[in-house]
Amino acid sequence: MAKPRVQFICQNCGSVHQRWAGKCDACGEWNTLVEEGTSGGIGSGPASARNARKGRAVVLTTLSGEIEDAPRIVSGIGELDRATGGGFVRGSALLVGGDPGIGKSTLLTQAAAALASRGHRIVYVSGEEAVAQIRLRAQRLGVADTSVELAAETNVEDILATIADGKRPDLVILDSIQTLWTDLADSAPGTVTQVRAAAQAMIRYAKSTGAAIVLVGHVTKEGQIAGPRVVEHMVDGVLYFEGEGGHHYRILRTVKNRFGPTDEIGVFEMSDKGLREVANPSELFLGERHAKSPGAAVFAGMEGTRPVLVEIQALVAPSSLGTPRRAVVGWDGARLSMVLAVLEAHCGVRFSQHDVYLNVAGGYRISEPAADLAVASALVSSLTGIALPADCVYFGEISLSGAIRPVAHAQQRLKEAEKLGFGSAVLPLASSKGSEEITGGIGAGAFRPTELADLVARIAGTRRSRAQEDE
Ligand code: TYD
Ligand code: MG
Repeated sequence: MAKPRVQFICQNCGSVHQRWAGKCDACGEWNTLVEEGTSGGIGSGPASARNARKGRAVVLTTLSGEIEDAPRIVSGIGELDRATGGGFVRGSALLVGGDPGIGKSTLLTQAAAALASRGHRIVYVSGEEAVAQIRLRAQRLGVADTSVELAAETNVEDILATIADGKRPDLVILDSIQTLWTDLADSAPGTVTQVRAAAQAMIRYAKSTGAAIVLVGHVTKEGQIAGPRVVEHMVDGVLYFEGEGGHHYRILRTVKNRFGPTDEIGVFEMSDKGLREVANPSELFLGERHAKSPGAAVFAGMEGTRPVLVEIQALVAPSSLGTPRRAVVGWDGARLSMVLAVLEAHCGVRFSQHDVYLNVAGGYRISEPAADLAVASALVSSLTGIALPADCVYFGEISLSGAIRPVAHAQQRLKEAEKLGFGSAVLPLASSKGSEEITGGIGAGAFRPTELADLVARIAGTRRSRAQEDE
């Protein structure tokens, strides 16, 4: 009899190795290979080939035809419904990832309570906390008297047997996927094999019954869902719950959604009575501004379909180091190097003897290239010691040639700025293709340079004109 073959599975990417090694060839991570049994594995060798049955023909169909909107259950928590694209979809699986302690259980407890009070049957299964702990949280959130059904359990078969009883639940929350295990796989809970098998069983349950399920997953420091990276591919939607230590606000970010838009965010604030919705994030991020200091520029950004105003702060200080320091929080370091290089090469501004620090206020994170112009303005402002006008917003992309390129949604960005009391703007001259023309408001009187050098000259010029006024 052949001896059962041993396999080593990378806990980071899920790739299978025949031999143990210190480093995974597939993803390059160290110390992630773990021995896992092969029985119950998918398609393991000749035995499964022998048992294979003859396939059944399915009916092929066309791309056009009847479609129905995905049936949704709406929680009534606006920011959550926005992130899910209009509510949880029946028969779908959603993964909610985030650092430990960020507030995933809090968010889902509040969602469960809100849905239960709208007459849905909600089951909350926790594998991490005891029933008493969850009750304590519910009391703190003031939702203890809702009809959410609670269980502390980790075995998938037991969970499925439990929820098969009675009316089909509308939503099942599994907190967290890392604690689940199924009899079908013989590895330890938390390993890739277990997580994958458990998630598969729960997703199959969702598809076959039409219940929505939410899987909670922990994220590692590198921003990846620990172990169950594989789960991301299996579920219909992935939401990340993130926030900076020391700040109270939390962002629920959509990174995958088979039933709606991605790039949407929901903004919350953590209080002592749970998460509160923040309907106008700009007010939150612009909260404590010191308008008159050099090195600060307000960026009019977009998050999904919603404009968000944030302050970008730069500090340019003489350096005593051979290689000056460049430090970035909340933006891309490579992009900062690029903006610095363009300023040096095309605008005659020198940073080679200076340390440069860049910070996005409030611990917010920006990924849009449209922030280039605000960053460049903040840098020049800090270097020259000239404060930018306090009521001005900036947006636009900078190309390597020093030209300022158009960005999408200019009108929407300007409207948001106007709503928050800003009176002027700096934006690209050209409008992006297909976007509406900029009419009226602060857009009409805006400064619209085509070259970055024009903007630098204007900022530096304000000192000269101010000096003249003083004379
Ligand atoms: P939790 O939801 O348990 O995080 P996760 O499930 O993502 O690990 O949230 C834990 C943190 O949230 C904890 O540090 C306490 C804080 N918190 C509040 O500040 N206010 C509240 O009302 C609640 C319930 C928690
Ligand atoms: Mg939790």
